[in-house]
Amino acid sequence: MPIETLKWVGGTTGRLELIDQRRLPGRLEKLSCQTPVQLFEAIRTLAVRGAPAIGVSAAYGVCLAVGVLADTAPAAEAMETVGKTCDYLASSRPTAVNLSWALQRMHGTAKTLLSKDPSLTIGALKRVLLDEADAMCAQDRRACEAIGQNGAHLIPDGGAVLTHCNAGALATAGIGTALAPMYVAYRQGRRFCVYADETRPLLQGARLTAWELTQAGIETVLICDSMAATLMQQGRIGAVITGADRIAANGDSANKVGTLGLSILARHYGIPFYIAAPLSTFDLSIADGRGIPIEERSGDEICSLNGLLAAPETVGVYNPAFDITPAGHITAIITERGLIYSPGRENIASAMGGV
Ligand code: MRU
Repeated sequence: MPIETLKWVGGTTGRLELIDQRRLPGRLEKLSCQTPVQLFEAIRTLAVRGAPAIGVSAAYGVCLAVGVLADTAPAAEAMETVGKTCDYLASSRPTAVNLSWALQRMHGTAKTLLSKDPSLTIGALKRVLLDEADAMCAQDRRACEAIGQNGAHLIPDGGAVLTHCNAGALATAGIGTALAPMYVAYRQGRRFCVYADETRPLLQGARLTAWELTQAGIETVLICDSMAATLMQQGRIGAVITGADRIAANGDSANKVGTLGLSILARHYGIPFYIAAPLSTFDLSIADGRGIPIEERSGDEICSLNGLLAAPETVGVYNPAFDITPAGHITAIITERGLIYSPGRENIASAMGGV
């Protein structure tokens, strides 16, 4: 059964239903968001997470905000709500550019519409904003499928790939980014094993990637993050594929902390290292990885395990949620438009042409 990470239910006054990823793999529960505040909390606490999934969810968050306004009032009166909601939701997490990309698109759509027709009502604006969020959701689903098709040949038949964090269906509106080539290769009849890094501190690899891959029947072996080097040394890994949260103009890529280390290991052992991401994850306004904002999360995520203390309460803790893999470590970026080998300023700009 396909995984429906996020779903808008109802018309312009509807709600956003999310799989509550904090409960997986133990419980498959839905979380209903009826207000932007509820959605902000869902994003902040990682009930919904993964760059494309938070982008599409935030787009629906704008629909939640305008949904409560009176239909007959002039649309101009809704613009303050639209602007404030976009700023508010954009501040929920800093690293994944898909979030601000989606919100800018929603804000831009509202502004353009109003400038074309100043007599527009809020009722009409609501309809257009919901259509735009639906379009982004459908675009992400198509991008995931195309990434899968473009990357499937990289999955070694009878071999193994390694992935980090969760860049699967749970992180998108479709079949994922890093996991998409695996799903498509599996559909095509290829058989392989996926090593999933558990991904400390929040265990997205263990809780989410291992859950969705095993649901799909794909052979999955869970490892602690510290075991990846051993597997590579033993010659067991044919390729590493991860997702990304933001890719700078020169190809430097932010992804879940630990990705940088994997890229260094892959280089050392001569293993191809791929990033899979839709074009909405590229941020050409940032020259290189040094400009990418890295989210720092609470030390409690490291110091407690299932509510039990895992470290002395007084210890200092540093908890950056993402790191930057230099473009030079990346064999290719798998996008919906094809593969960008040896990513750099020029080939990225030309791949992005027309976006
Ligand atoms: O903190 P998370 O779980 O949102 O981190 C997610 C990742 O790092 C993913 O690899 C990335 O967002 C790509 S998702 C297709």
